[in-house]
Amino acid sequence: MTGAGMQAFTLTALRGRAAAVTALLLCTALVQAVPQPAAAAAARYEAESATIVKGAAESNHSGYSGTGFVNGDNVVGSYVEFTVTAAAAGSGKIAVRYSNGTSAARPADIAVNGTVVSAARAFAATTDWNTWATATLTAPLTAGANRIRLTSTSADGLPNLDYLDLTVTPSDTTAPSAPGALTASGVTSNGVTLNWGASTDDTAVTAYDIRSGDTVYATVTGNPPATTTTLTGLACASPYTLAAVARDAAGNTSPPGEAVTFTTPGCATDGGVPSGITTVSNGWTIPWGTYWMPDGKSALVTERDGFKVFRATPDGARTQVGTVPEAVTTGGEGGLLGIAVDPKWTDNHYVYVMHTAAEGNRIARMTYDGSSLGGYTVLLQGIKKNKYHNGGRLLFGPDGYLYASTGEAQTPDLAQDKNSLNGKILRLTTAGKPAPGNPFGTYVYSYGHRNPQGLAFDRNGRLWEAEFGDSKKDELNLIEPGGNYGWPVCEGSCATDGMTDPKKTWNVSEASPSGIAIVRNVIYMGALKGERLWRIPITGDTENLGTPSAYYVGTYGRLRTVTKVPGEDRLWLSTTNCDNNGKQPAGSDKLFRVSIT
Ligand code: GCU
Ligand code: CA
Repeated sequence: MTGAGMQAFTLTALRGRAAAVTALLLCTALVQAVPQPAAAAAARYEAESATIVKGAAESNHSGYSGTGFVNGDNVVGSYVEFTVTAAAAGSGKIAVRYSNGTSAARPADIAVNGTVVSAARAFAATTDWNTWATATLTAPLTAGANRIRLTSTSADGLPNLDYLDLTVTPSDTTAPSAPGALTASGVTSNGVTLNWGASTDDTAVTAYDIRSGDTVYATVTGNPPATTTTLTGLACASPYTLAAVARDAAGNTSPPGEAVTFTTPGCATDGGVPSGITTVSNGWTIPWGTYWMPDGKSALVTERDGFKVFRATPDGARTQVGTVPEAVTTGGEGGLLGIAVDPKWTDNHYVYVMHTAAEGNRIARMTYDGSSLGGYTVLLQGIKKNKYHNGGRLLFGPDGYLYASTGEAQTPDLAQDKNSLNGKILRLTTAGKPAPGNPFGTYVYSYGHRNPQGLAFDRNGRLWEAEFGDSKKDELNLIEPGGNYGWPVCEGSCATDGMTDPKKTWNVSEASPSGIAIVRNVIYMGALKGERLWRIPITGDTENLGTPSAYYVGTYGRLRTVTKVPGEDRLWLSTTNCDNNGKQPAGSDKLFRVSIT
């Protein structure tokens, strides 16, 4: 028998068997209820974690779930908006738990994605504020994020809201067929072009994802979407196994098509330039610290004035995982600042935060299980605070110790006082003790700093640091243990005995630097007042720097934190445009992704 004949025979045999199975299923269906698409278990969204406008999270009644409930202001227009996720488009059963301790029903409009689906819905009296009732409605939801908003339509305001439970019954349950085999061409040290065969679907294929396991490297959308894409930002000299999957509008996902395996060639020489800046996620309000999880699949991001910690992923998701307790603002630039993930997180689940508290700035340890933060423990107190100059960066070194940058709290002489924790880089153990081998036997690793916020280690294990100058010069320093970096005797370079000059300086109007990160032996430095990304090459394995150049000048506003994406020649950047200097409305800060090519 020829190959073609064999194939035909096999197909016929398979068809025969499929027909038998279908017949059996039909018989079963006759004697049982008509099968319905399986509905997912309800997902709970606590009101106190939702967006609250004209109202507040409170806990002064009993019987609520989570950490409290929302008391909306007693006015027309107070609202609570839940951002919910539907795995697939379909009919959403929305159950709202509420209490109303008055004798009159309280009406509220319920809107999904901006469209009112239930106008002036009455939330009946529930005897008292400790007695909770559930109101349900159904509304169509789209695949992915949906906004469900309850807005009071009477001067009595909203009932107290405890949570929203959501169950989505998908409308389309048929997944597209698997895409045809993936092929790779034009493999470079950082990129590849991929092609695959189109999938079919009973409605329509709306997207292809190029994946390695659960990691999505690219998404191609369109009507129909293209069956080719070029990936950038791959790691050099690294193996990849990628497969394509197809999705429809309801979020049904096909099985993966046949995978392709290739290895990127040897690493490009030092260098590369930023390209292809895109938004990772929106809706941020003064994000401050960003730190990648050891697996490189998600990062933790803090918000300075709300003390919230979020999990951010490259697909744009942004999920609150907790709030740091005992944090306060300084009405200026203190608050919840840096965050760091323990290199041994997989075993101990520790993360570290630096934040302002009642008595000063602190370094604290919390536990993070991958979805929520808990177990707050203070590791180091007694770092003085002030409205400005609170430092705040945390970074693990290759030595496994935690490095922290502290500001001089607007008290310049503290920077030269080796017994003070201010105006320093500190180096501590994960138990909050001075790291063994510190130059003065204390927490202090280096001193003479004004307001340092940038820390990064290069491939030779050397620590680079960026700090804000006063009115003249900002500094990029190479940190030696025990080194004195000059402030307040010296701002910028001053060739003074016993003090180390910066490796580079900038006028404060061009920089005002915060975070730094290193990719392919180039330092990238975010600038606040300078509203740009500085590129500063390290010269080979020397301690010298080449000529800086600036990217995105004035385009994205005030850049705060720069981190390298693990395993990729990529950066994430965050903005600080919602602060008193940026003056943009809350929620308008962003995370960006930049490829180094
Ligand atoms: C009381 C009650 C609140 C409630 C409010 C209201 O103050 O304690 O929980 O929200 O009444 O009338 O809305
Ligand atoms: Ca109220």
